[in-house]
Amino acid sequence: MSNWDVEKIRKDFPVLSQTVNGKPLVYLDNAASAQVPQVVIERGAKYLREEHSNVHRGVHYLSQTATTAYEAAREKVKRFINAKEAAECIFVRGCTEGVNLIASSYGRKFIGEGDEILISEMEHHSNIIPWQIVAEERGARIRVIPMNERGELIIDEYENLLGRRTKIVAVTHVSNSLGTVNPIKEMTATAHKFGVPVFVDGAQSVPHFPVDVQDLDCDFFTFSGHKMYAPTGSGVVYGKREWLDKMPPYQTGGGMIRTVSFEKSTFAPIPEKFEAGTPAIAANIGLGAAIDYLNSIDFAAAAAHEHELLDYATKRLSDIPGIKLIGTAENKASVLAFTIEGVHPHDIGTILDQDGIAIRAGHHCAQPVMKYFDVPATARASFAFYNTREEVDKLADAVQKVIEVFA
Ligand SMILES: Cc1ncc(COP(=O)(O)O)c(C=O)c1O
Repeated sequence: MSNWDVEKIRKDFPVLSQTVNGKPLVYLDNAASAQVPQVVIERGAKYLREEHSNVHRGVHYLSQTATTAYEAAREKVKRFINAKEAAECIFVRGCTEGVNLIASSYGRKFIGEGDEILISEMEHHSNIIPWQIVAEERGARIRVIPMNERGELIIDEYENLLGRRTKIVAVTHVSNSLGTVNPIKEMTATAHKFGVPVFVDGAQSVPHFPVDVQDLDCDFFTFSGHKMYAPTGSGVVYGKREWLDKMPPYQTGGGMIRTVSFEKSTFAPIPEKFEAGTPAIAANIGLGAAIDYLNSIDFAAAAAHEHELLDYATKRLSDIPGIKLIGTAENKASVLAFTIEGVHPHDIGTILDQDGIAIRAGHHCAQPVMKYFDVPATARASFAFYNTREEVDKLADAVQKVIEVFA
């Protein structure tokens, strides 16, 4: 394997040393939520122990300490995704809230009767439904970029779907159900030729490879902290200032105003305009600590290790008769979804759990993908840089056992 010292990295994650059902935990559900390193746990605990207070409100010591830490986390996010300014990085509870924020706010301002919203066939439900609701409200319609049997978007069709009526393209960077990495930079360049902004769901990309929003040139980008080694409740939606400045608030209330009177209220500049109410202070400070952690490791070597694991797991599972891989794109990240003939994925998940192996079984909030592949559900193993080749072997052996049990 590469120069990645996986055993050393594993020691950073306390949860990984547990046993489950008497067996060492093999955690292969990272696409749902990744585990949290000790330094992030400690940072959250320090905040709660020593700094807990509301941000942006008090003049007292604790409030200023909390505000400084919270805004420092925003600076870290800015550098992590290479935004032009920290103000373009809005803290949200996660990707779902990020999509809802942009769909609702952008939709109210820029989408009207007869307009079109372009999404793809491989979207997570959270990048479908908010756009459907906006489309219904605004009299617009959803159009869908199709994919091929490997689970890759058909780029020619994408280009044909773009047109005068297209008001936004909303597409995932990496599919959570297939692992496909989409060519976002090229797709964005094409959309921009039509003057159309691009929203990117980055939930499954930021944990696995460096993302540079200026290089992608996307107009909006969102991700969740809990999939990138941070606590739940943290997350970011990025938007270019030129868009965010023009868009109306999403939620309203405290913290997002400039002035309030019963006749009329005016709003704060970004990012506060989009951060009504008390935010998830501890969680987002934790997100900052997770970014520090990722900066402290060799992220390129981590990505290479994950790739080797994916290739190895793909080979091991493909060698088992009766297994069908779902999602065989040329460019993939970290997700290996499969079905076993005659066995429901939930049964696969339950049997693997008896061996301490955590995978996901279900539709992965991507029912259109299940429909395309004509399956009710799949089993999904998803890797992080702390997973090992031995764990892949345990997965393959356990899957073999499932086949024998059901034979
Ligand atoms: C591609 C993708 N988008 C969006 C989401 C939603 O993220 P969250 O539940 O953290 O809001 C997920 C979660 O699995 C995802 O994988």
